[in-house]
Amino acid sequence: MIELKDLRYVRLGTRDPDAAAEYAQKILGLELVRRAGGAVYLRGDDRDHTLVYVKGDPAAHAAGWEVADAAALDAAGAALEAHGVPVRPGTRHEAELRHVEDFLSFVDPSGNTHDLVVRPHHSGRRYFAARDCGVWSFSHIGLRTTDAARDEAFWTTVLNARVSDRIGAAALLRIHEVHHTIALFPSTYPGVQHVNHQVHGVDDVMRAYYFMREQGVRIVFGPGRHPTSGAVFLYFEGPDGMVYEYSTGVRLIKAEEEAAYRPRQFPFTASSFCMWGSKPDIPEFRTKEDAAAA
Ligand SMILES: [Fe+2]
Repeated sequence: MIELKDLRYVRLGTRDPDAAAEYAQKILGLELVRRAGGAVYLRGDDRDHTLVYVKGDPAAHAAGWEVADAAALDAAGAALEAHGVPVRPGTRHEAELRHVEDFLSFVDPSGNTHDLVVRPHHSGRRYFAARDCGVWSFSHIGLRTTDAARDEAFWTTVLNARVSDRIGAAALLRIHEVHHTIALFPSTYPGVQHVNHQVHGVDDVMRAYYFMREQGVRIVFGPGRHPTSGAVFLYFEGPDGMVYEYSTGVRLIKAEEEAAYRPRQFPFTASSFCMWGSKPDIPEFRTKEDAAAA
């Protein structure tokens, strides 16, 4: 069992890193960290970076996951190979670009690329948002799966993810006490499906709602509240069609609750995504009733 400690970063390909970085600062509100090797590094908390735009194919995405130490990385590589998943050790240069001491990459059964990283760098300088957005943490990603049952099994047996809840076949998975750090949404192709940042409170979600409207940013879901995690959310569109989410108030499943915790099954309906009645305009969240109403 490979124990993921935390989600550290997401790397997103884009034809125009400068335009993406402008969006990330002016709209999303992240802090610009650096430009290096044709990539732009940003962050939404005190870590070295949490989001990277890499010049290249907009369909090329990678998520970085922290493991405990070098021994855990070696064991993880062996465990993946034992499960028939090829592993690619990162080069020294690539590790420097990721601001980690060491890493390896693998591709999950749906075709999503992941880095397992050791000792990712923290920043000595405090995070300072590019605008008053209330973002205080990069928190989770939605990931596309081409076979939800297969990938849920992969994440819960090869990796240490636990199912917190399910909406239809889509599993919301935790790797620590936060209700979900990864959510697997059925699709016909791989990739990061949405990128979540936590904001301080409902005021930030609602300020963002009016701000996005003023700025002409397409809101694709919300404001609303997830019945699963309890989080109040707003989803909006970014460069290359990527969906970004602000949310606040996510449920924690504490260590003492782990033994007795049972995931709940929600039907694949709009009310399972939002308890207030907001309807998603996000392909992976669209339900049969949405399609019938459209
Ligand atoms: Fe989310």
